[in-house]
Amino acid sequence: MPLQRPQQTQHASLQSAISLLTGRAIDLPMSRRMALQGMLGTAALTLAPLTLSQVDIPTGQARLIFNENPYGPSPKAIAEVAKIMPNTAYYPGEIEEDLIALFMQRHLLDREQVFLASGSNEGLQAAMMAFGRQGSVISPSLTYSDHLDYAEKLGVEVLRVPLRDDMAIDLEAMARAVDSSVSLVYLCNPNNPTGMAIDGDELRSFCKEVGQKVPILIDEAYNELTDNPDYTSMVDLLRDGANMLITRTFSKIFGMAGLRVGYGMGHPDIVRVVKDNVMAWPNGVGLYAAYHSYLDEEFIAFSREKILQGREMVNTTFRRHGIAPLPSQTNFVYADIGRDATAFKEQMASRNVLIRGAYEGYGTYSRVSMGRIEDLVLFDRAFEATYLAG
Ligand SMILES: Cc1ncc(COP(=O)(O)O)c(C=O)c1O
Repeated sequence: MPLQRPQQTQHASLQSAISLLTGRAIDLPMSRRMALQGMLGTAALTLAPLTLSQVDIPTGQARLIFNENPYGPSPKAIAEVAKIMPNTAYYPGEIEEDLIALFMQRHLLDREQVFLASGSNEGLQAAMMAFGRQGSVISPSLTYSDHLDYAEKLGVEVLRVPLRDDMAIDLEAMARAVDSSVSLVYLCNPNNPTGMAIDGDELRSFCKEVGQKVPILIDEAYNELTDNPDYTSMVDLLRDGANMLITRTFSKIFGMAGLRVGYGMGHPDIVRVVKDNVMAWPNGVGLYAAYHSYLDEEFIAFSREKILQGREMVNTTFRRHGIAPLPSQTNFVYADIGRDATAFKEQMASRNVLIRGAYEGYGTYSRVSMGRIEDLVLFDRAFEATYLAG
């Protein structure tokens, strides 16, 4: 069936609303839509503007702000999801266990070491609440922070340890900050917004030492994009019973941010208490899409290639203007542009290219997420024009 244009869809909804109110089938000329919406009052108010998408990205706009993968979801996953839509009257069932079984097989973990969440953020929030009620949480000062902010609003104390001068996470300072009042250490690897990965061996030593005193939560949202995902991930430590939790997501390389699927892997005792704090019930369509995406090696390789190609383009744009981007192992690049990053973001937005402005304490740093290759061509042009305009 051809897709309806938004206006036609809205028109059809208006017709059915009028039919419902009048009890009669009605064929309403398009031209009378506006007048009737006014006359119908409340009934018309219920007709929210409809779009063909869950998010409105105007044609020609480069959206480089949320570290998404616009090439996703996997075409195979999309085709599979279309088949199950007629069956979504029911709460999700077997798909939960099927998906978890994939993670167990891939990482050689037991059933009680894995849980699902509505996006990894929910797993992170649940972990923050599970442990943050027992003591304070230590985190790097500049890092992904939605879950930290959430927990702080609910009374959890978060202690932020400054980054090193080279913008790396300061593992030594974090280890020194752990005392008996600390209940959890949070690390994001690679870190957001810097994009920098912690060396695998250094992090392994840190986890072995600090994990003796306190549980460690590692956010591996971007692991699949790192130079060496197995070396960078700490999943292997879980097989030896490490005092840790690791979160992963389908929102990044898998290009499924709108479907909200994440998961956690960890010590069974940690997984149990974190699961008790997870609030949302899983989204069955998302889980089904995740299952098929996880198995779609071709799409994963394609996405990785496009993202790395895009990252090189953004690095080149920065370097051409004498700016040294931080070494990213993710689908975003962070760089000190030597200007007010928030004002710069606004100037870029006026050229239809959306990038991130300043994060607290880093007023001259911009973060640029990967879009499609053509979006990054737009970025290059807009950056040049904005930068040279001074
Ligand atoms: C480091 C990191 N962790 C977690 C998330 C949350 O992602 P989601 O809830 O979509 O899995 C993000 C999102 O940008 C992120 O950058």
